Amino acid sequence: MRKFSSRILIIYATIFITFFIIKSLAVPATFGEFGWYRGESVKEVANTSQKFAGANQCFDCHVEEYALWTVGEHKNVRCESCHGALKAHVLDPEKYEGNGEYLSPRAYPTIVDFCLSCHNRSTSKPESFSQMTVPHAHEEYWDCLQCHNPHNPIE
Ligand code: HEC
Ligand code: HEC
Ligand code: HEC
Ligand code: HEC
Repeated sequence: MRKFSSRILIIYATIFITFFIIKSLAVPATFGEFGWYRGESVKEVANTSQKFAGANQCFDCHVEEYALWTVGEHKNVRCESCHGALKAHVLDPEKYEGNGEYLSPRAYPTIVDFCLSCHNRSTSKPESFSQMTVPHAHEEYWDCLQCHNPHNPIE
């Protein structure tokens, strides 16, 4: 009987010690510094570079698009929601001139694909939001920009 209970004690002690060894190895050093997360992560997040410039930055150089946009139906869609994160472009426009990579409307196969990335029909969207289904066969012939200016779609 005695032998049995001392074995249980040993098992418990082993589990206990193993737990603390694993804990000390697995939990990052700064965990709990400020709260229930790694304290060091605050510094890491603060150090990531800013990718978005903000729409008011575009005004300086693209007055025409900006002026149209502020009075149009897309005024609540930020420039960079359509054109991609453009902080680098704002800092050095010449360097990024003609670089299609970040000008997202052109990164889509067709302009229909681009417009429908927001306006395609889906039951998950509120009824009041303009949405449509474009038959696949029509996609390459339809040019939404022929009739709609993206910066003021209903002029
Ligand atoms: C310091 C001036 C400057 C700022 C600020 C600036 N741009 Fe530009 N942008 C340019 C220049 C210069 C070009 C290349 C010349 C051109 O095509 O008009 C250009 C080109 C573009 C193009 C491609 C035009 C094309 O025909 O290929 C887009 C789209 C664009 N900018 C969007 C933006 C957006 C959105 C912002 C705000 C986040 C912005 N720009 C801020 C100067 C600027
Ligand atoms: C709803 C999406 C959308 C928004 C919002 C938007 N754009 Fe555009 N933008 C486009 C599309 C689409 C084009 C046309 C691309 C093409 O002709 O291939 C374009 C073209 C441009 C061009 C190239 C010149 C031209 O007229 O073809 C510039 C510069 C530009 N946008 C700047 C801006 C700025 C600045 C803002 C914010 C004030 C903005 N855009 C907001 C979709 C958008
Ligand atoms: C990033 C998402 C986004 C993209 C991309 C986008 N739109 Fe829109 N569009 C919106 C939002 C948001 C509204 C405002 C809808 C509302 O207030 O109900 C809107 C409104 C409109 C309206 C007015 C709708 C109405 O009921 O009066 C038209 C027309 C329109 N968009 C056409 C286009 C065209 C054409 C393109 C492609 C060049 C395009 N949109 C690309 C988000 C987008
Ligand atoms: C031949 C011209 C033409 C083409 C091409 C066209 N539209 Fe339109 N669109 C119109 C007209 C006209 C209206 C009605 C505008 C009004 O209410 O004043 C309209 C209305 C809209 C509306 C708002 C009303 C609604 O029915 O929900 C959206 C969103 C829209 N178009 C998106 C698009 C998209 C996306 C494309 C490309 C797939 C496109 N349009 C292609 C002419 C066109």
